[in-house]
Amino acid sequence: MNSVIALDNWNLNLRKKLEKILNMVEKLRVGVVGASWYSDLRHLPALKSHPKAETVAICDILQDRAEGMAKKFDIPFVSTDYREVIEKGDLDALFVVTPDNTHHAITMAALEAGLHVMCEKPLAHNAGQAREMYEKAEALGIKHMTFFSFRWPPHYRYLKELIDEGYVGRCFDCHITLFTDSGRGGRYSWRYDSNQGNGMLSEYGAHMIDQARWLIGDIAKVNAHLRMFLDRPGLDGGKLDPTNDSVLMAIEFENGAQGSMQLSSLACLGASGWDQCIDIHGESGTLKARATKTSAEILGIRDKETEFRLLHVPDSLLEGVDVKNPFDIRSQFAGVYLFVENVLEDMTITPSFHDGLKAQEVIDAAKKSDKTGQWVSP
Ligand SMILES: NC(=O)c1ccc[n+]([C@@H]2O[C@H](COP(=O)([O-])OP(=O)(O)OC[C@H]3O[C@@H](n4cnc5c(N)ncnc54)[C@H](O)[C@@H]3O)[C@@H](O)[C@H]2O)c1
Repeated sequence: MNSVIALDNWNLNLRKKLEKILNMVEKLRVGVVGASWYSDLRHLPALKSHPKAETVAICDILQDRAEGMAKKFDIPFVSTDYREVIEKGDLDALFVVTPDNTHHAITMAALEAGLHVMCEKPLAHNAGQAREMYEKAEALGIKHMTFFSFRWPPHYRYLKELIDEGYVGRCFDCHITLFTDSGRGGRYSWRYDSNQGNGMLSEYGAHMIDQARWLIGDIAKVNAHLRMFLDRPGLDGGKLDPTNDSVLMAIEFENGAQGSMQLSSLACLGASGWDQCIDIHGESGTLKARATKTSAEILGIRDKETEFRLLHVPDSLLEGVDVKNPFDIRSQFAGVYLFVENVLEDMTITPSFHDGLKAQEVIDAAKKSDKTGQWVSP
C-alpha cells in the first residue's frame, strides 16, 4: 500500500516537473501600456534581455511615443488604446506603467481578459480601487505584482536579512527619510495634480511605506502632515488641484514599534539626485542604512559594542551589482525577471497587489489624517 502511495507521489512530482519544463520552454508574451521614461529605462530593456519573455505590444495615448518605443525595442503591435492591446495583442501578461489614476481601469480590463498583471506602484489612486484590483486578481486566480522596486537592490535585501535574523531584536523605532530633487523648479507634473496622483506621498511614499511594512510589519495608525511648498501650474497652464511635495508622518506599527517618515522632492542634492536613510533601533541593536544614486552602506551596532561597524553586503546578495550603484540596472531588472519567472513557473509573486493595497491604505489614511489633524488607522 505504501509503495503505491509512493509511486503516485512520484508520478505526481514527475508530472509537475514535466509541466514546469513545458511551461518554461514557452515565452511569456507581454504587452506594455505606457511608453514612459521608466518603461524605456527598466521594463522594456529587462523584458528584451530575458530569454523567456517577449514584448509583443506597446500602447501609449501619445502615438509618437508608442511608435518610437516600438521601433527602439522591435515591438510588432502598436496602439493608442489599451483595450485594443488587450483584445488583439495575443498576450499572456500586461505591464501597466501609466499615471496612477489610470492603473485601476487598465488593470481591471486586463484581469477580465485573463491576463497576468504587473502594475506599477502605487497600485491605484485610492484604496477602494486597489482593493477591487486585488480581489479580482485573486478571485480569477491570476498572477499579480506591484512593482515596489526598492525591494530588490542588494543592500535593502541585506537589511531585511539582518532584521529577520534578529540583529536589532524587538524593534522600538524605525525612522525613514527620503529627499529628492525631482520636484524642484515647480513645473507641472501629473504627480502633483490630485486628479492623477497623490504627490510625494505616492511617488516615493508608496515605496517607503512598503519598505516600512516589509522591514518592520503592518502599520496600525499614522498622523501625517502634507505640504505643497511650491506653486505649480496645472495642465496646459490651467489651475492645479494640488497634492503635496513634502510629507511628515508619525507611525505606529501593529507590533507596537513606532516610527516616522519624512519625504520631500524639493531638496538640493547635486549629482546624488536622492538621499535615503533608514534608522532602526531595537532591543539588541541598531541598523542604519544610507543610500543615494551613487552609494549605499549599512552600519550596525549591537548591545555591549562601542562603535558602529560597516556591514558588508555578502556576494551572494550582490550578484555582481556594484554597491556604489545600488540602483544598478541588474538590481532593477530583478523585479521584471521575478514576474516573468514566477508566472511561467506558476508561483505566487511578492510584492503582490495585496502589498500594493496595504501601502494604498496607508496613503489614504495619511491624507485623511492631514485633513483632520487626527491619528488615522489604515
Ligand atoms: N517603481 C518605480 O521605481 C517607478 C519609477 C518611475 C515611475 N513609476 C510609476 O510608473 C508609472 C508611470 O510613471 P512615469 O514617471 O513613467 O510617467 P510618465 O508621465 O513619464 O509616463 C506615463 C506615460 O503613460 C502614457 N499614458 C497616460 N495615460 C495613458 C493611458 N490611459 N493609456 C496609455 N498610455 C497612457 C503617457 O502618455 C506617458 O507616455 C507611475 O505609476 C509611477 O508611479 C514607478
